[in-house]
Amino acid sequence: MVEVQGAHGLLVNQFLSPLTNTREDSWGERTKFAIEIRKEIAKRCGWDFPVTIRLAVDDFLDGGITLKEGKRIAEELQDYYQIIQADIGLGPKELRLEPMPFQQGWRAYLAEKIRPLKVPVAAVGMIREPDVAVDILRNKADMIVLGRTLIADPDWLIKVREGRAKEIRKCIGCSECIKARHDEDERIRCGANPQVGREIEIKKAEEKKRVVIVGGGPGGLEAARFAAIRGHEVHLFYDEFGGTLNLAALPPGKEKIRWLIEYYREELKKYDNLKMYHKKALKNDVIALDPDAIIMATGSKPFLPCPPLRDFVYLYNDVLRGEVKFEGKSIVVGGGGLVGCETANMLSENNKVVIVEMMPEIAQGMETLSKKHLIRELQEKSVRILTTTRIVDVARGEIIVEKEGEQMLIEADAMIAAFGSRPFVPFHIEDVPTHVIGDAKSVRNIYSAVSEGFKVAISI
Ligand SMILES: Cc1cc2nc3c(=O)[nH]c(=O)nc-3n(C[C@H](O)[C@H](O)[C@H](O)COP(=O)(O)O)c2cc1C
Ligand code: SF4
Repeated sequence: MVEVQGAHGLLVNQFLSPLTNTREDSWGERTKFAIEIRKEIAKRCGWDFPVTIRLAVDDFLDGGITLKEGKRIAEELQDYYQIIQADIGLGPKELRLEPMPFQQGWRAYLAEKIRPLKVPVAAVGMIREPDVAVDILRNKADMIVLGRTLIADPDWLIKVREGRAKEIRKCIGCSECIKARHDEDERIRCGANPQVGREIEIKKAEEKKRVVIVGGGPGGLEAARFAAIRGHEVHLFYDEFGGTLNLAALPPGKEKIRWLIEYYREELKKYDNLKMYHKKALKNDVIALDPDAIIMATGSKPFLPCPPLRDFVYLYNDVLRGEVKFEGKSIVVGGGGLVGCETANMLSENNKVVIVEMMPEIAQGMETLSKKHLIRELQEKSVRILTTTRIVDVARGEIIVEKEGEQMLIEADAMIAAFGSRPFVPFHIEDVPTHVIGDAKSVRNIYSAVSEGFKVAISI
C-alpha cells in the first residue's frame, strides 16, 4: 500500500488548507493536488493498487480546516483513496507526535466525526493497549494505525491475536525515537526496545556463564533478560523492582512508565535460568555466588551541593515519593533539569513554585516537543522560571540567588534540591569481570540504561 501524507502541515495539507492555499488558478481548488497525486499513482500502479491518505481533517488553527470542512474533504477524497486516515493538520507539532502525558487514543474522535464514508476510516495516535484499540474499533473507527506502538513491540499484533496481551512491551512515550530522528537526525532508537535499529540475530552464548546482576532498574532488568535469553545462569539482585522507573513514573502525566516495570515483571517470569533475589546485594552475597561476570546496574544517588538544612532543604526523590508533602507553601526548586522541572510540576498543583536553573534553559536535553509541552504546563501552573541564575546562599526561609551579577533574595518555606545525581557503585570485586551500566556508569535516561543492559548481555 502507498500512503500519501496529506496531514501534519506538509505539502498536500498546505494545498488542502484555506490558510495556506490562496492560489487563484485551478490549484486553488484545494483538493485538486491530492486528487492529481492519486491519479498519477493509479497511472503507474493501476486503480486497484491500494492507496491511503493521511488526511488533515482539522488544522487546529483559526482560519484553517475545521472538522466540518475536514469531513467534506474526506467525502470528496473517498472516491479516490481506499482508506482515509483522520489526522491533524497545520497546528501545533506536539499534537502530531504527542508526548507521554496525552491520553491514549485522544485523536480517534476525528475518525468518528468524519464517519461514515464509503471507504474505511482509520484512527491514529497514541493507541497502545489492545483494550483501547478494541474500543476505538467498536465505536470510532474502522481501522487503527499504530506507530510507536510497533517500534516498542513489533510483535504487538501477534501477542494480541494469541491472547498474550500481558506480554506486550508498550510504548511508554519517552520520545527517544523522536529525539533521535527529529532533533539529532540520527538513526532511530527506542527507550523500551533496545533492539530497534540493531535488529541483529541474538545467539545463544557459546559458554554458559554465571552472571550476577546488581540492581533491578531498567538497565539491570534488560541485562537479566538478554543474559537469560542467551542461556547464562543469571542471578538478579534488586532492592526495588524497576529501580528508578518507580520514581520516574510519579510526576503528573508519567504513569505510562509503569508499563515498562509491568513488562519486565511478566517477561522475566519466563526464564528458568534466571533467579531473582528481592534484597539489596551485599558484596558477600555476590562473592558467595562465585560469578564469572558481574553487571553493576546500581543507578545513582541524588547530589546535594548545599548544607542539608533540616526542615528546609529536601531531596526531590522524597518529594516525588510523597514522603514530604507541601500545601500552600512557597517553594524553590534548585535545579531545572528534567527532574527539577517534573518535581516543580508536581508541587505546583498546590504550591507557589520557583525553579532556579544555572543554565540558560530548563529541561536541557529533553526531546523538543515533550519539553515544549512540559514548559507550557509549568507556565499554566504559574511556576516562575529563573534561568542563568545561580544559588549563592541557602538559609532557612531565605535563598540568595545571583543573575547576571545581581543578587536577589527569595523567601521560601522550603527548598527542593534537584541538582542532579551522581553514579552509585557500592562495591567492587577484584578479579571478576565487571560491567557498569546505565546511571551507575553516568547519569542519563531510560534509553541509555536499557540499551547498555542489552549490549552488555549480548557481549558476555
Ligand atoms: C520517530 C518518528 C518519526 C516520525 N516521522 C514522521 C514523518 O516523517 N512523517 C509523518 O507523516 N509522520 C511521522 N511520524 C508520525 C506518525 O506518522 C504517526 O502520526 C504516529 O507515530 C502514529 O501514532 P503513534 O506513534 O502514537 O502510534 C513519526 C513518528 C515517529 C515516532
Ligand atoms: S522511544 Fe519511547 S516513545 Fe519512541 S517508541 Fe520507544 S518507548 Fe515509544
